[in-house]
Amino acid sequence: MKKLVIANWKMNPDTQAEAEKLITAYAGLKIPAAAEAVLAPPSPYIVLAKQSLKNMELGAQDAYWMDEAPATGEVSPAMLRDLGVKYVIVGHSETRRALKETDDDVWKKLAAVQLDGMTPVLCVGEPLEVREKGEKAAADYVLKQLLANTETLITYCPILNQAVIAYEPVWAISTSGSGEEETPEDAAKMISLIRDTMVSKCHLEGLRVIYGGTVNRSTAASFLARPEIDGVLVGRASLNADEFQDILNAAI
Ligand code: PGA
Repeated sequence: MKKLVIANWKMNPDTQAEAEKLITAYAGLKIPAAAEAVLAPPSPYIVLAKQSLKNMELGAQDAYWMDEAPATGEVSPAMLRDLGVKYVIVGHSETRRALKETDDDVWKKLAAVQLDGMTPVLCVGEPLEVREKGEKAAADYVLKQLLANTETLITYCPILNQAVIAYEPVWAISTSGSGEEETPEDAAKMISLIRDTMVSKCHLEGLRVIYGGTVNRSTAASFLARPEIDGVLVGRASLNADEFQDILNAAI
C-alpha cells in the first residue's frame, strides 16, 4: 500500500500571491511511486490548487455535516466534492478546540464526507495533561474518541470502512508550544492499538492509520519506515515545498 502523505497548510499562507507561489512549487513536486500525495489548503485556495496541481490529490481541512442547511461560514461536503476534493480532514484538534466540536459533531462530519463520496481523515489524539498520566490514560482517551458509544459505533462502522484515521497527539503538534516530540516507536504502538481495536470492533480490513505531529524532513523517514504507520499528516513543514519533497521521498 502507498504511504499517504498529506500537506495541511492550516490557515496559511496569508495572501493569494503567496498561495499561488507555493502551489506552483507544489505543481513541480515529484511524487515517488511509494507515496500518494495530498494538498489540503485553506478553502479560499482550493480552486487555485485544483487549477494547477496534476500530480496530487486535493484535500480540505474541514466540512460541515450537512449539504443543505442555514450555516453561515461553513463549507458543505457537496461543494468540496464538486471542486474535486478527495480527502477531508475532520476533527483536527485545532478545529475541535476552536469550534468546540464534540465527538458527535466530528462523527456527523465524517459520515457526511463519506456519503458525498470523499475520504474523511479523522483526527484523534490526546492532550498533554492526559499523556502525562501515562500510556494507558492516553490510549483510553484516544479509544474513547473513536468509540464514543456503542450505538454510534454500530451506525458508523460501515462508514469507517473507507476512512483514514490520523493519530495526532495534541502535544506533539508543532504549534502546540509544548516543544515535545512523539517517538516513532510510541506512535507505532498507538497506531497498532487503533487499528487492532477498529478491526475487532468494526471488522474493518484495510483501514489506513497515519501519524501527525512535527513531521519534518528530519523525522519523516523514521515514521514512514514503520510498517504500522500508513502515512503522515504534515503541518508546518508542508509550507516549504522543498521540505515537503524530502518528506515525500522518505516514503518507502
Ligand atoms: P505539525 O502539524 O506538522 O505542524 O506538527 C500537524 C497537524 O496539526 O496536522
